[in-house]
Amino acid sequence: MAYFVWDSALETGCEALDSQHKRLFDLANGIELAIEQHPEDSEAAANAVSGLIDHVVEHFQNEEAIIAEYQYPDAERHKALHVQLGAETMTIAARCMSRSSWRRLSAIGCTTTFEFRT
Ligand SMILES: [Fe+2]
Repeated sequence: MAYFVWDSALETGCEALDSQHKRLFDLANGIELAIEQHPEDSEAAANAVSGLIDHVVEHFQNEEAIIAEYQYPDAERHKALHVQLGAETMTIAARCMSRSSWRRLSAIGCTTTFEFRT
């Protein structure tokens, strides 16, 4: 079961950004799936977390470039949100990866990171 379900209300109208946002959902769901399917395999979950972090970093760079290109009026606030969300993501990922045994991320607060404020 998908924990994060894409909603067309989240579409920006920019195909590239919408595609990246959908990928974020897929990767976040992949973490849940890795833990669900391999509860004692920390490597599977760590790989899923790592994949999400990589995509988050790449996506933020892409989105900020597009925002700048189109002179989005709320660009600075959006960029600040990215900084905040990136820091939260890294903090929670580090906490998740330090666990010796894996539990569902929702149980330890990881999923709150991925409230899509992007
Ligand atoms: Fe975004």
